Amino acid sequence: MGVNEDIKRFSINPEQNLELLLMTEVVGLESLHYGYFEDVPENIELADIRRAQLRYTTTLYDWIPKGVNSVLDVGCGIGDNARYLVSKGHTVTGISPDLNHIQYFSEKEENLEFVHSTIQDYNSEKRFDLVLMSESQNYFSMEDGFSKTIQHLNPGGHLLVSGHWTRSGKDEYEMMHWEDQYIEKASEYGLVLQRQQDITQNIIPTLGYIHHLLTHNLRGLVKFVDIYAHRFMPRRTALAKLFLGGQIGKADGIIDYFERFVNPENFAEHSSYSRLLFIQEAQ
Ligand SMILES: C[S@@+](CC[C@H](N)C(=O)[O-])C[C@H]1O[C@@H](n2cnc3c(N)ncnc32)[C@H](O)[C@@H]1O
Repeated sequence: MGVNEDIKRFSINPEQNLELLLMTEVVGLESLHYGYFEDVPENIELADIRRAQLRYTTTLYDWIPKGVNSVLDVGCGIGDNARYLVSKGHTVTGISPDLNHIQYFSEKEENLEFVHSTIQDYNSEKRFDLVLMSESQNYFSMEDGFSKTIQHLNPGGHLLVSGHWTRSGKDEYEMMHWEDQYIEKASEYGLVLQRQQDITQNIIPTLGYIHHLLTHNLRGLVKFVDIYAHRFMPRRTALAKLFLGGQIGKADGIIDYFERFVNPENFAEHSSYSRLLFIQEAQ
């Protein structure tokens, strides 16, 4: 079944991304990335996901080359990777266009600056030793990502990408880049691949957990609200459905779309997750 374009636009709207809001406000996560599992407990709980998310950040940190001081964290989410980098002595500028993310940052934080912007609109005089894209590289075109990276990198700087890729172009993963094409395109911008690692199996357990929540808890909650509304506000609910019918259907479609996206078998078959470190070659 094709993913409705409308649903896609609605759910990943840069200024108010429902997918990300769902993770923090509904699932209750304190990070927006998937996490990194080494050993998988039999029954995964929220605390396991949080530990895995911290491990994601610490293992990502191992990829930062020696000598890197300043970092531009593109699509910084709610700032946990950025703060970890700051705790290790780096100065970080994080950018995110999502209005919901502003509240997670304060102007008082030392060595951490937040800029409410897309990468496309970001134009700074600052230059960085490393540009980080942690699960953000698919939100913009490769051309925008690479040209802005080059614009803001110190000579000989690095680009570190950690995130998912499509392997088949299937509907729910079609907005992702293909890893091979990404590496090839990077070389056109003078960014040479230094290191690459597939970590699909390390992130899959988180998908399983979110999939379970969506199929059981969230569907149940939506049903509960529907029954409650019909029972206690029958007239208003009927009217709302009459006027908002399309929008209500859209909400269902969004859950369907997320469900397919995070389905672990579907993901393993049509997608992958890896880390790539590039260095800007000398001009
Ligand atoms: C999945 S979250 C990842 C957050 C964080 N990097 C992490 O690893 O937890 C994707 C991030 O990319 C941001 N984003 C979306 N569109 C963007 C764009 N055009 N330019 C820069 N960031 C964007 C989102 O707002 C969000 O902060």
